[in-house]
Amino acid sequence: MKYGYFDDENREYVITQPDTPLPWINYLGCQAYFGIISNTAGGYSFYRDARLRRLTRYRYNNVPYDLGGRYIYLRDDESGEFWSPSWQPTRHDLKNYTCRHGLGYTIIESRYSGIEARTNYFVPLDEDLEIWRFTVTNRRKTRPSLSIFSSIEFCLWDAQDDATNFQRNFSIGEVEIEGGVIYHKTEYRERRNHFAFFACSRELAGFDTQREAFVGAYRGWDKPAAVERGRLSNSVAHGWAPMGAHHVKLDLGPDETQELIFLLGYHENPAEQKFDPPTSQTLNKKTVKPIIAKYLNGAHVATAFENLRQYWDGLLGICQVETPDVHTNRMVNIWNAYQCMATFNMSRSASFYESGIGRGLGFRDSNQDLLGFVHMVPARARERLLDLAATQLPTGGAYHQYQPLTKRGNNDVGSNFNDDPHWLILGAAAYLKETGDWGILDEPIPYDNVLGSEQPLYEHFQHSFQYTLDRLGPHGLPLIGRADWNDCLNLNCFSDTPGESFQTTTNKDGRAAESVFIAALFVLAARELAEIAQRRGRKDEAQRYLAEAAKMEDTVRKHGWDGEWFLRAYDDFGRKVGSQECAEGKIFIETQGFCVLAGIGLDDGRAQRAMESVSKHLATEHGIILQQPAYSKYYLELGEISSYPPGYKENAGIFCHNNPWVMIAETRIGNGDRAHDYYARINPSAREPISELHRCEPYVYAQMIAGRDAPTHGEAKNSWLTGTAAWNYCTITQWILGIRPFYEGLEIRPVVPKSWRGFKATRRFRGVTYHITVERAGPGNQVALRVNGVPSEGAVVPAPAEGQREVTVDVTLT
Ligand code: GLC
Ligand code: GLC
Repeated sequence: MKYGYFDDENREYVITQPDTPLPWINYLGCQAYFGIISNTAGGYSFYRDARLRRLTRYRYNNVPYDLGGRYIYLRDDESGEFWSPSWQPTRHDLKNYTCRHGLGYTIIESRYSGIEARTNYFVPLDEDLEIWRFTVTNRRKTRPSLSIFSSIEFCLWDAQDDATNFQRNFSIGEVEIEGGVIYHKTEYRERRNHFAFFACSRELAGFDTQREAFVGAYRGWDKPAAVERGRLSNSVAHGWAPMGAHHVKLDLGPDETQELIFLLGYHENPAEQKFDPPTSQTLNKKTVKPIIAKYLNGAHVATAFENLRQYWDGLLGICQVETPDVHTNRMVNIWNAYQCMATFNMSRSASFYESGIGRGLGFRDSNQDLLGFVHMVPARARERLLDLAATQLPTGGAYHQYQPLTKRGNNDVGSNFNDDPHWLILGAAAYLKETGDWGILDEPIPYDNVLGSEQPLYEHFQHSFQYTLDRLGPHGLPLIGRADWNDCLNLNCFSDTPGESFQTTTNKDGRAAESVFIAALFVLAARELAEIAQRRGRKDEAQRYLAEAAKMEDTVRKHGWDGEWFLRAYDDFGRKVGSQECAEGKIFIETQGFCVLAGIGLDDGRAQRAMESVSKHLATEHGIILQQPAYSKYYLELGEISSYPPGYKENAGIFCHNNPWVMIAETRIGNGDRAHDYYARINPSAREPISELHRCEPYVYAQMIAGRDAPTHGEAKNSWLTGTAAWNYCTITQWILGIRPFYEGLEIRPVVPKSWRGFKATRRFRGVTYHITVERAGPGNQVALRVNGVPSEGAVVPAPAEGQREVTVDVTLT
């Protein structure tokens, strides 16, 4: 069953039923001001940091879920009846409800009792505000008197504090109201230079800023007392719960439409110009007023929306494909790229599953998120890389996370996730291949943000490399530390205290437990580093990287192979993890995918065998399971992985993030059929027809789909913020369709299903547009290129002559 449909033309997903299995959300904003918006207008907004600059309040895990949002109420002033045109919170039986989630905007439309309403929510480019462009049309034959009420609830900035520290919060809320604009200025009197504003384009019949005055005691947002009464009380919040509500009255003739604009925004004043007059405690509004005036103007709003559409046309235009598979096309051309922007911006901080309070930007996560984003806005990828590198520690290790506002490493979570440092190399290699910007390697970057510790970025990679060599275990494999990619394989944790964090608890000295995964990651990173060193004229260093990679590969062959598949790890007792010898957790996906992806086992048949084992033991119709058999009980020596009930998350869930590693591995052994088959199994668009089972949004990947050991096999969770987005994007575009940025040019090596007769693609790369046509002349993956009609050696299209902007590439597969 479906709850809507894809409108590919408009690049929208159109939800036609408000009671989706879960809130189906979208993101507003893609630069500094962000919002989450559900299909019933729920969600919240923030500036840069979802925890420390939260504008609006949200009630997590509530009943009904998804409570707190950008709610508008319509009221028929003759009958007194009122409803929410976004369905929530009043949940009336709306006619013609649709929610169009588009790229950076959401439009919710409905009709009730002859009144049509449409709200377009979006954030204009380069502005720190969101627009609610509200239009109402009267389809009655009469001329009703209507009231429109807007409402939002302010969060007192620090979302963590906001949800806990009521003894203070209930006394600090402050607002100002001037010219119909509601200003939220809690804590502005002291150390904050920022405030929020909520404005409306029409003359007001009233306003409210105190929640209790609007909602009424012992009531909910579904029945606010003020809306029921049809009148706001011009309340001015002093403490308690500041909110914003506007009341506008409208008389509409038959078939008449009118537009209203609401603005919610964030603004900072220079420290020395906070107050106006300076000796007062009154907000200086001089700098914000022109911005408000501009966007309360319908013509400017229309232009801003058009600009946003064009911005996305430009970004998505960088890579467009036309394959025989509609789901591939839709995800590559629209949604997967869009999700990559969201993961780049949010990391794992703010979604319906991430509260925005707990997690900053992950070192490992952000470096991987870059992989799917770097082609869109390379300048931002560059900045992110440098920020990440600056949190690297002098040991080569890294803070596991940092806070986006301060860009400082997060001491609560700390370091010692021994895979972390290598992702920096992979992120940087992707950046270099895309841009050819070799200058980045010379950027002076500090360690742990300590002034004076700067070294060229390139030296940071060497530290990453050395970090692993300095931490080898009894078998010569890398020590795992707190965890590797799999946060839940905590081999040094040994926690028996309820509630203790698996991520930060360490009870062992860490000298025994080893990770085959990190070994594979090391091999891949060392080879990438060698490529970089070569091109930087550091031949000796390149040799050394290659030699260490070869040595590690050898160690994996000796100590990391279990006979039919790659081992996963050795625990603190030196016992195997992910082996036939184990009672549970005999085979893991990570090392099968990553070893082969790194090239291990390609020449000795191990790669094929590992892939056969994946197909036999881990593949299901809903995707590839993380490990089998699931852990049926808690193992002290394995940690969080065994804390999850079987079939969920890292304990044998389908952890979508690492499915693409197996797809890439399949392409590396030339198996396009299987690579694409695995791709299709977790492709959200392909899963749309089973939405009642999948439950999450059909337009974005989820982190996890319940595995076969779970009673809910096939049900997705944790949509949006997952490394799945970047990895699937890279897998389908670079490995299956095979259009791969490389140092010397664009490499084209498709490994597509045998049944495909070909496909087309356009790729903008370093200022040149490549028009690529692939045709199948035989069943294999051999490529022959013709560039602008002329046969060309190899699979890399060389950069064209200066000034040439368009290149045609014809590829024959045999
Ligand atoms: C989560 C984390 C990621 C980790 C993965 C596997 O997605 O954000 O860092 O690799 O889980 O545990
Ligand atoms: C839990 C989750 C894992 C995530 C980690 C982040 O361990 O299972 O997926 O990476 O938390 O802190």
